[in-house]
Amino acid sequence: MKSVLCCVLVLVACLALLAAAPEEKTPKPQYDEKGQLVRPADYREWMFVSAGFGMNYSPAPGSHEMFTNVFVQRWAYNEFVNSGKWPEQSMFVIDERDAASRSSINQKGHYQTDLMGLAVEVKDSARNPDKWAYYAFDADGKTAEAMPKGNGCWSCHDAHAAVEHTFVQFYPTLKVVAKKFGTYNESREQVTDAK
Ligand code: HEC
Repeated sequence: MKSVLCCVLVLVACLALLAAAPEEKTPKPQYDEKGQLVRPADYREWMFVSAGFGMNYSPAPGSHEMFTNVFVQRWAYNEFVNSGKWPEQSMFVIDERDAASRSSINQKGHYQTDLMGLAVEVKDSARNPDKWAYYAFDADGKTAEAMPKGNGCWSCHDAHAAVEHTFVQFYPTLKVVAKKFGTYNESREQVTDAK
């Protein structure tokens, strides 16, 4: 009798844990009937990868400096932590936010404000002959077409990213993982022009 009770308690504890795990609404990329990528609505609840501020890939003076926040699905992140590789159907979102400085009690430095744009990268070999596909959403766009390969997204990521097509050289917590598994391309840290 005691052992039955014990089993029931363990089961209840397991169910409670399952219920507590955050569930992603869009864990895999979704496409509409025209084959366009549907904007992942809940990406702000995914794993936060890192942020950039005013990053610019050309030596020409940049325009207004913005923040960039990078997210990936939690399940894909978990697989990466265990292998240093991105599983098929990994999806990355980079959310571009405007920067402001003087407001309320803030005197210096910058904080994030409005969403300016959203770019998405998907690893999906079954759908894309070049494995990785790129999408750019307007601030309030609901679907986006894959970028033609010649527009620069694919080739810059292919030529300069340190892990597969992702810029792990700029993501400190992922960098240690990739180095541990030997999937990190050290030479991609070299200072260079983004040609
Ligand atoms: C000239 C090089 C270059 C081009 C062109 C480019 N990117 Fe990137 N991309 C980067 C860099 C560098 C980062 C890291 C940014 C950061 O840390 O904030 C990045 C990060 C990303 C990320 C986050 C995941 C990752 O791969 O690290 C996404 C998503 C992304 N870019 C999508 C796009 C899309 C969509 C386009 C085309 C519309 C594009 N990129 C064009 C250089 C480029």
